Amino acid sequence: MMLNSLRKPAGFIRRYLGIAGICSLYHPLAVLADGMFTDMAAPYESCGYCHEYDGNPSMEKYPKLGGQKQAYIIKQLQDYRDGKRDGKGMMDTASTLLSDQDIQTVAEFFSRQKPGVTAAEPSAGNFPQARELWEHGSKERMIVACTLCHTAADPEIPYLSGQHAEYLAEQLRAFKQKARTNDVATIMQFLAERLSDQEIVQLSQFIATGAQQ
Ligand code: HEC
Ligand code: HEC
Repeated sequence: MMLNSLRKPAGFIRRYLGIAGICSLYHPLAVLADGMFTDMAAPYESCGYCHEYDGNPSMEKYPKLGGQKQAYIIKQLQDYRDGKRDGKGMMDTASTLLSDQDIQTVAEFFSRQKPGVTAAEPSAGNFPQARELWEHGSKERMIVACTLCHTAADPEIPYLSGQHAEYLAEQLRAFKQKARTNDVATIMQFLAERLSDQEIVQLSQFIATGAQQ
């Protein structure tokens, strides 16, 4: 008896409110769950394994991204994804997992982080030739001063100051050897092939200390 009278209203509710009930209950829940999922697994979370969550890894082979220009980050991620820049088995995978929207999101996220703190080393002063190239370039050797572009506001020219020395040197060697060719108008390839291996090492160490600013 009691069961019957209970079942009836229960059946009634299920039958008449069922469809609408499921929609109105499940829909907001689905939205909430979706929102929670997006927050918990933001596309930049996975980058932290290598680039740290604030974009400032201590390991030299992983470039710092904290405070880097948004448009530059976007271009690099697109270049890795399109196979225009060698991702070394890391960035090719990481970039193909990103949608166009994710690329905007991660680039915005890392550009908002603070640039990594760099302890200016006194040894930077030991590279007067590096400072000369950085500030003035060399007319005879057709080397344009690095500052002309790298301290300029152009959104697709990266900040270099304070970047890891090992990473910088690796990129300059890659431009020199034409292993990295995603630079617009081959400007970095043109410049890097004019630098000796020793100049590459010294320029990279000089730039990494942040002492040139
Ligand atoms: C497994 C390690 C790893 C993961 C995960 C990873 N990266 Fe990288 N990333 C690297 C390495 C190594 C390089 C340098 C590769 C090269 O020489 O071009 C790099 C380079 C980059 C660069 C180029 C920086 C510059 O100054 O030109 C950007 C931008 C970047 N990563 C963004 C990301 C983002 C965003 C994610 C997450 C979606 C991510 N990375 C995930 C290892 C990783
Ligand atoms: C005419 C402008 C210009 C000048 C001058 C210039 N650069 Fe660049 N550089 C660029 C641009 C643009 C890029 C980004 C290329 C790309 O889109 O991948 C770049 C990229 C780089 C990178 C790679 C950075 C990274 O995060 O991966 C390094 C290292 C670099 N330049 C070093 C130098 C040094 C050292 C000098 C001086 C000898 C110099 N550049 C002079 C325009 C310039």
